Amino acid sequence: MSHHTISVVDLSFAYPDGTRALDGVSFEVGHGEAIAVIGANGAGKSTLLMHLNGVLSPIQGSVDIGGTPVTKGTLPVIRRTVGMVFQDPDDQLFMPTVAEDVGFGPLNLGLPPEGVARRVDEALARVAAARLKDRPPYHLSGGEKRVVAIATVLAMEPAILVMDEPTSGLDPRARRRVMSLLGSFEHTRIIATHDLDLAAELCERTLVLAGGRLVADRPTGEVFDDDALLVASGLERPLGMQACPVCGAQKPAMSSRAPAPAHPRDRLRADVGAGLGEAVADAPEQ
Ligand SMILES: Nc1ncnc2c1ncn2[C@@H]1O[C@H](COP(=O)(O)OP(=O)(O)OP(=O)(O)O)[C@@H](O)[C@H]1O
Ligand SMILES: [Mg+2]
Repeated sequence: MSHHTISVVDLSFAYPDGTRALDGVSFEVGHGEAIAVIGANGAGKSTLLMHLNGVLSPIQGSVDIGGTPVTKGTLPVIRRTVGMVFQDPDDQLFMPTVAEDVGFGPLNLGLPPEGVARRVDEALARVAAARLKDRPPYHLSGGEKRVVAIATVLAMEPAILVMDEPTSGLDPRARRRVMSLLGSFEHTRIIATHDLDLAAELCERTLVLAGGRLVADRPTGEVFDDDALLVASGLERPLGMQACPVCGAQKPAMSSRAPAPAHPRDRLRADVGAGLGEAVADAPEQ
């Protein structure tokens, strides 16, 4: 069996104060799938994700990663396989400098110093945060902490990426950069998010949680076309699919949408590629 798969069977969890956060959740994730986990505040998304790398243990049911059950004894191998970006970056960053935080995981994998340094530079470059390398993480802005937290996971090169609100608090360019990065991965990806446009763009399948129960596990287009499901789960359509607030015109259903017309910049690039204009090749990214 591929070690990039996830199997969750009848998973239930309650916090020590008795709050029942998950109730009988079951689903399977195949190698290379990108899955969104959506739901209102308190629906159980973070609690579910924290079971995927053994931060929490079920009171009932099981989680398997690539056929290996998540137990105390398997945690070292599970943590190498499943890279988790926590909802709160402060849970992820604890070293004196960004470079040490990003290098912490690779160092613990036993890589030599030059291998660790290479992983740190590559991971920070991928999230455009090389300039933050020598800064103390606790002095960074919220968005800077978020991208550094993502870099700490990328540096581990895990087979499965689990991300809890990866775009929360990011400015539009940083959000777009993280989205392209996620889109470029062939890893199995599980992304809990309130950024429904991200889910619509990157994830072929969506799990909907409500009150700790899995109320839908369907293709993302179907989920966002199902207004009754969205309302019952305390959600709305992604902004990109909502009616125009001025004229009320409805956007077409996701499942019936024609492919978007090419962006003018892409057409310019095509022209450049055909040798029609050197200047636009250096135009700044929008
Ligand atoms: N440490 C804790 N102790 C007790 N209850 C908790 C704890 N953490 C979370 N909960 C409760 O568990 C339920 C699920 O919380 P969880 O954080 O998983 O929701 P979520 O879907 O991630 O929400 P959000 O969208 O706000 O991040 C909520 O009712 C929450 O109040
Ligand atoms: Mg959460």
